[in-house]
Amino acid sequence: MLNLGVLISGRGSNLQAIIDACEGGKIPAKVVVVISNDPAAGGLERAKKHNIPTAVFEPNNFKDKNTYELEIVKELKKHDVGLVCLAGYMRIVGPVLLEHYRGRMINIHPSLLPSFSGLHAQKQALDHGVTVTGATVHFVDDGCDTGPIIVQSAVPVKENDTEETLSERILQQEHHIYPIAIEFIAKDKLVIEGRKVKLK
Ligand code: GAR
Repeated sequence: MLNLGVLISGRGSNLQAIIDACEGGKIPAKVVVVISNDPAAGGLERAKKHNIPTAVFEPNNFKDKNTYELEIVKELKKHDVGLVCLAGYMRIVGPVLLEHYRGRMINIHPSLLPSFSGLHAQKQALDHGVTVTGATVHFVDDGCDTGPIIVQSAVPVKENDTEETLSERILQQEHHIYPIAIEFIAKDKLVIEGRKVKLK
């Protein structure tokens, strides 16, 4: 059983999809801790409903990013986390978290990377006029949304889409592919070769 630590900043619908997949026996993993940088994140309530321990670390309460991330690392280690899942965690991962969890930290992003990395990916896609966008789960590396890609799902952009309607359609795919990526890792099915993630 793979122990998951989920990092969030907001409502936590991806967290919910992960919890449901674990509790429903679809993946041999368990969410053992949920950590947020924002005490108001809705995902914290979701975790509590499932009796999952939570922790909140607010970056402003620490003297610098390294000290902040060291606290997160301590919490993850306390719960013996084997895989860190960023699920709507809206902060750039720094060297401390990376050093401890490189190759064992994944992220979900609401676009077909490498297109539209960073903030407001759905709006970026609409503004650019693409007809297809989607969602990506990838390993986290030093860059912003640049790590090796594990799973992607394409989503059509409709003519009268708004940021809200497009985000909602992408979100459904996020909830589908995030558990799949975790399942691959929990079953030890992946190898990373340079930029490529291959099935063993
Ligand atoms: C999701 O759409 C996720 O892909 C996105 O934030 C949303 C969080 O929703 N993440 C990023 O944009 C990261 N760059 P959730 O809190 O309901 O899972």
